[in-house]
Amino acid sequence: MMSDNKIRIKKAVFPVAGLGTRFLPVTKATPKEMLPIVDKPLIQYAAEEAIAAGVNELIFVTSSSKRAIEDHFDKNYEMETELERKGKTGLLDLVRNVVPKGVSCVYVRQAEALGLGHAVLCAKQIVGNEPFAVILADDLIDGGDTPCLAQMAATFEYNRCSVLGVERVPPEDTEKYGIVEADVITDGLSRVTSIVEKPSPDKAPSNLAVVGRYILTPRIFDLLESTPRGAGGEIQLTDAIAALLKEEQVLAYEFKGERYDCGSKLGYLKATVEYALQHDELNEEFREYLRERFGKGGSEIEQLVKHA
Ligand code: UTP
Repeated sequence: MMSDNKIRIKKAVFPVAGLGTRFLPVTKATPKEMLPIVDKPLIQYAAEEAIAAGVNELIFVTSSSKRAIEDHFDKNYEMETELERKGKTGLLDLVRNVVPKGVSCVYVRQAEALGLGHAVLCAKQIVGNEPFAVILADDLIDGGDTPCLAQMAATFEYNRCSVLGVERVPPEDTEKYGIVEADVITDGLSRVTSIVEKPSPDKAPSNLAVVGRYILTPRIFDLLESTPRGAGGEIQLTDAIAALLKEEQVLAYEFKGERYDCGSKLGYLKATVEYALQHDELNEEFREYLRERFGKGGSEIEQLVKHA
């Protein structure tokens, strides 16, 4: 039983209906979110982050080519029977705990890729009238001891308003993100005064970029319903947030941690190297490989290995 009357985030929406064109050809038949970082698909990192923040309902907005995601979070009888027969209990636990007890998965289809805002709107009936999280699995965030969404959930519980996960980006990169203008409240937390989708560097109000983590109040659904198609002909979540902040307080939270843009090939490769260096089974051998491959001459890789 809850001893306080804090509102907690129990539902997380994972929009996974995008086409993933930057990763073609692999994304022709495989969802981008199923790409592994070492041995775990991106979508599982995202689900684990949500669960660590107290979420117990995972809502996936999928499309016809994303069945592998449903299979990943479903029971695999054949695999489990085989692992049990061979006495491979460690692997059996690994397979069974992809969805821990008490956590449920719900799927809804986005028939056409009409944008992130449209994808979130597809979850309206399932989310209902409560605040919820949105996680974009291709933004992989290593938050250390307190994963990013848990940090944001604490901010939400205290302030009871929408919270956007933000980070400073190089000014020349503003065109890749939703960019906020915000008044500082305390270190790392500010009140959003405006938000704009993918502004060119000369038009960007700041270099504070929204990355793939949101906690939103359900009012966003009504606003999404009346949001016209914006940049790229898509229904933009950013445009609905711009309408939301005219009615409610919206906070920008600079999370603690390292983000990898795994929707891009370079970000994906960086994440692979970093997570391999942290991996229990692999780290020693992989570190050794990097030393052999790049030498001991103070190269950047060598520095990276030393700090890992
Ligand atoms: P992206 O902008 O990364 O698009 O979407 P994308 O299609 O996944 O990838 P590229 O740019 O073609 O390589 C951001 C997030 O919004 C989801 C995507 O799945 C991704 O998680 N999304 C986007 C949808 O669910 N539906 C859409 O219509 C668009």
